[in-house]
Amino acid sequence: MIFYFSGTGNSKWVAEELAAKLNDNIIFIPKAKKEYKLSENEKIGFVFPIYAWSAPKCVFDFIQQVHFENYKNNYTYFVCTCHTQTGKIDSIMKKTLKAYGLDCHAGFFLKMPNNYLLAPFVHTDSEEKQLSLVARAEMELKTIINFINNNERIFNVKAGIGSALLSMIGHPLFEKFMTVKGFYVTEACNQCGICEKVCPVNNIRVTTKPIWANRCELCQACLNYCPQQAIQYGHYTKNKKRYAFSKTLLTGNPPSL
Ligand SMILES: Cc1cc2nc3c(=O)[nH]c(=O)nc-3n(C[C@H](O)[C@H](O)[C@H](O)COP(=O)(O)O)c2cc1C
Repeated sequence: MIFYFSGTGNSKWVAEELAAKLNDNIIFIPKAKKEYKLSENEKIGFVFPIYAWSAPKCVFDFIQQVHFENYKNNYTYFVCTCHTQTGKIDSIMKKTLKAYGLDCHAGFFLKMPNNYLLAPFVHTDSEEKQLSLVARAEMELKTIINFINNNERIFNVKAGIGSALLSMIGHPLFEKFMTVKGFYVTEACNQCGICEKVCPVNNIRVTTKPIWANRCELCQACLNYCPQQAIQYGHYTKNKKRYAFSKTLLTGNPPSL
């Protein structure tokens, strides 16, 4: 079984591809149960985007709560999607899973188009770059699938410079200071309700305008999918292009980088 979280579709596409090629099921973490019965040799997979050099909170919450019946050191792996660097996600996942009695046997990363807009000078990628990133991810995913099929014990992440500090200090600071309070809505909002529908954690209600509750993962689905670009965050999102994964990005052809 493959447990996944995704805000703007990159990781959802990865989870769906893995499920199709490994003949497995996908389960969306916000809708997951607390108990699963494993069959013999069943693999446990986690797919999620990197958030501030670590994983989204709901991934940790899920690992903390879930119980796997019949667990006998089943092959357990993660695949994370990121834009540039993963931080020490390999150590973080190993440690977190270990704390709840699970071994982590493998971990992989895929570079995908950026969906993060909440910082100055940070933009979505050009269409050309999106195409080349997704094409390369398609190619690399085939290798990852082979590794998983063969129960390979391998970790391949892109920690990046200063990764230990960024994961250990940057991530908690991000969680503390980047909160749901930064969101606001402009007059362009026509109450279409798309933000409410795409919010993966059911955190938005649209009455006369969207209202955010406190379960926000900061996945930026609301901001990126709003067709009016009426959702903004702080000072940094105005006039920036938005991004969400689309199957039109899939070419099946590796880019010539
Ligand atoms: C809150 C947040 C934090 C992010 N932090 C990082 C990061 O530390 N490193 C990175 O390379 N990409 C980062 N990104 C980019 C995403 O990991 C990347 O675009 C991912 O593929 C999005 O996946 P999704 O479409 O499944 O939501 C961040 C995105 C968000 C929304």
